[in-house]
Amino acid sequence: MPGGAVRPGAVGPTGQLMLWAILSDIHSNVAALDAVTRDLESRGVEGILCLGDVIGYGPEPLVTLRRAMDYQVTLLGNHEEAALYYPEDFNDRARIALEWTKDQLNCSEQASQWWDFLGHLPKHHELENALLVHGSPRDPVREYVVPRDSLNAEKMEEIFSLIPGDFCFVGHSHVPGVYLESTGFFPPAKLKHGFQHSQKKALVNVGSVGQPRDGDPRASYVTWDGSRVWFHRVEYDVQRTQRKILDTGVLPPYLANRLQHGR
Ligand SMILES: [Fe+2]
Repeated sequence: MPGGAVRPGAVGPTGQLMLWAILSDIHSNVAALDAVTRDLESRGVEGILCLGDVIGYGPEPLVTLRRAMDYQVTLLGNHEEAALYYPEDFNDRARIALEWTKDQLNCSEQASQWWDFLGHLPKHHELENALLVHGSPRDPVREYVVPRDSLNAEKMEEIFSLIPGDFCFVGHSHVPGVYLESTGFFPPAKLKHGFQHSQKKALVNVGSVGQPRDGDPRASYVTWDGSRVWFHRVEYDVQRTQRKILDTGVLPPYLANRLQHGR
């Protein structure tokens, strides 16, 4: 097994490596984001990196956008790109949510502030020994890397060849876990919820704060100190977000239902 059992949330004494929280796919879910924020503060996190999809699907896009403005880094996700340009590969439900989200931005008194922030989001960011993207190093905004891709040697080889350092952190698929060069995909439970970097490059999917899709409805995020990654799951008030989705009268009820199943 790669890595080893590492103690979740361990933080070194002052002067040790900085501890970052890496979040992705918040999707306008404030109840989930509040719970994650409380959790990461309790772990002594010193900075927050966000891999995109702050908006889309969920009921409170203005609140999650406002929070993302304060993070050290926020990247462009495919939902932000679709809001700015055109939703090319969106299904009907995602498209309805996108149009509703754009209406919320446009009806706000701070409309120009929201669009200006979205319009300046970067597609990638390099920090220490890590590359941060929403999707993959090959197509930073749109390409999915999912567990079955670990059987696709050609795709994984090309993706790993584009990772300049030890780590690449991604979101987008909403399925957390670690992909290692030529050895496959490891969900957090197999890693005992922690991962220690060794020789191989690691592509780490941090999961989704606001719409997990691995069968666990709890919000997902990771902490990272430069060499170790810890996966965290946080319970939140799913019903609050479901009620807010239904109260819009526009967002499809399916988007509320799926939250309780983590699908
Ligand atoms: Fe997403």
